[in-house]
Amino acid sequence: MEKDDLLFYNEYEQFYLMAKDSEAFKHFCRKAFGEDFSQDGFSDVSQVDRIIPFIPKDKKAHILDIGCGNGKLLGYLQKKTGAYIYGFDYSGNAIKTAKELYEKDSEFTQGCIGEVDYPEVKFDVIISMDTMYFAPDMSAFVDQIMKWLKKGGVFFTCYQEGDVMPKTADENTSVLAMILKDKKIDYDCIDITKESYDLLLRKREAALSLKEEFVKEGNAEWFEMLVAQTDYADKPFDEYKKEMARYIYTVRA
Ligand SMILES: C[S@@+](CC[C@H](N)C(=O)[O-])C[C@H]1O[C@@H](n2cnc3c(N)ncnc32)[C@H](O)[C@@H]1O
Repeated sequence: MEKDDLLFYNEYEQFYLMAKDSEAFKHFCRKAFGEDFSQDGFSDVSQVDRIIPFIPKDKKAHILDIGCGNGKLLGYLQKKTGAYIYGFDYSGNAIKTAKELYEKDSEFTQGCIGEVDYPEVKFDVIISMDTMYFAPDMSAFVDQIMKWLKKGGVFFTCYQEGDVMPKTADENTSVLAMILKDKKIDYDCIDITKESYDLLLRKREAALSLKEEFVKEGNAEWFEMLVAQTDYADKPFDEYKKEMARYIYTVRA
C-alpha cells in the first residue's frame, strides 16, 4: 500500500499509539461510550450490543471487523459469544496492539480495503463501524463483503452522514443505500441520529471532565481534538438533524 496516498493514514497511526498508552483516553472511552474500544467516532456500547443477536451461539461463529482498530470491539464480542475473531485495518500500530491483546481464536491483518482478501473463510457476521467511507470503491467493496458472507450471514454497519459522507434526504438515499438498491440487495435500516447527538453531548462532557488528566499526561492536543469532534452538536437537535444523520444498516446474505 502507498501510505502517503491513504486518507488519514498518519493521523490514525498517531491515534492508535495514543490510545495504547493514554489512561485518560481509556477513561474517556468508558465514560462516553460505556466501554473502552479505543473508539474513534461513535461506536457506543448500545450500538455494539445490537450486533450480538446476529452472532450464532450454538457453534463457533466467525466474525470479521473491517477497520477493526486495535481489536477491542472484537475482543468484547468474543467475550460475549465465544466467536473466532478476524479483523483488518491499515494501521500497523493498531494491528500490533490487537495481536498482543487477543492471541486466542483470532486473526488480525494489517492491510487496506480493496487489498485484503479472505478466500478461505466465510463469515457469519461482518461488521464495519464508520469505515465504509474509506473504501476507494464502495460498490466493489460491497461485492467483496457479500462474497465473504456465509449464506444467511449478516453484514452490520454503522454509517454516518454529514462529515465524511454527504448528508442526503434519508436512510434510503445515502451512498450506501443507493449502491445496495442498485445491486438489488435488501437491507434493514434503523435511524439512530438522536442517539448519536446525545452521544456527542456525552463525549463533550466526558472530555471536559478529564481535561486535567489529559494535560498531566502531555496529551492536551488529544483533549482539544476530542472536544472539537463534538462541535457538530453545538446546536439544538432539530438543527443538527438537518446536517447530520446516523444509521445502522443490516444486510442478510
Ligand atoms: C473512523 S475509524 C473507526 C474505527 C472503529 N471501527 C471504531 O468504530 O471506533 C476508521 C478506521 O478505519 C481504518 N481505516 C481507514 N481507512 C482505511 C483503509 N483504506 N483500509 C483499512 N483500514 C482503514 C482506520 O485506521 C480506523 O481504525
